[in-house]
Amino acid sequence: MTHHDPSPAPLTSVHHLRHPLIDHHLALLRDRATEPPEFRLLVQRLAMLLAYEATQDLSLLPIEVHTPMTYTTGHVLRERVGLVPILRAGLGMVDPLLQLIPTAEVWHLGVYRDESTAQPVEYYSKIPETGPVDVGLVLDPMLATGGSINSAIAALKSWNVPRIKVLSIIASQPGVEAVQSRHPDVQIFACAIDPELDARKYIVPGLGDAGDRIFNTRRG
Ligand code: PRP
Ligand code: URA
Repeated sequence: MTHHDPSPAPLTSVHHLRHPLIDHHLALLRDRATEPPEFRLLVQRLAMLLAYEATQDLSLLPIEVHTPMTYTTGHVLRERVGLVPILRAGLGMVDPLLQLIPTAEVWHLGVYRDESTAQPVEYYSKIPETGPVDVGLVLDPMLATGGSINSAIAALKSWNVPRIKVLSIIASQPGVEAVQSRHPDVQIFACAIDPELDARKYIVPGLGDAGDRIFNTRRG
């Protein structure tokens, strides 16, 4: 009998998180009146919720645990997880991720957008050439055109990281499409997918400049 396998599920996946806590914290994060101290806390809370969702498929190793009552089997993380924050704004997501995955490695990547062209410029990379992690989590609260994320993914691919996930608080629809078309194997997790970019390639409605709001460097 001829047997036709069903088409494999596409590897590409965009996970738009839906949860009342996400809506609540996101509304406060977007508010222009939210000052940097609270903005940072909101980024941390949303990053934790993204981390919870994005790490569902991490594999585990059984271990024997001696409780005060008896022996039982517990499970601990088996895989090497690498956090790759894109400087600057991605730094705001590192601590909450380390709260949940204390054994994660942090590999910094500096990318900024040239203000006149919105093209990404890589200016710093701690990513080594050998010994890749098992799972790479790219951290950046904003995925606008997708240029910076695509540049980070390319860096992780040249390090031969087999599983790459992007954690962004706000992504734009065109940015998601730009990442998906270049890297269909990479999963994207976002708390919101906003419809468009303005003429300066800022996300609308968005939240403005995430790096400036985290680090209190907003001018004017
Ligand atoms: C912002 C943001 C992303 C990037 C998103 O960084 O944190 O890294 O822009 O835009 P893209 O998807 O169009 O590439 P920015 O360039 O402002 O750097 P900074 O945080 O160092 O100021
Ligand atoms: N970078 C930001 O911080 N915000 C945007 O809306 C776009 C790029």
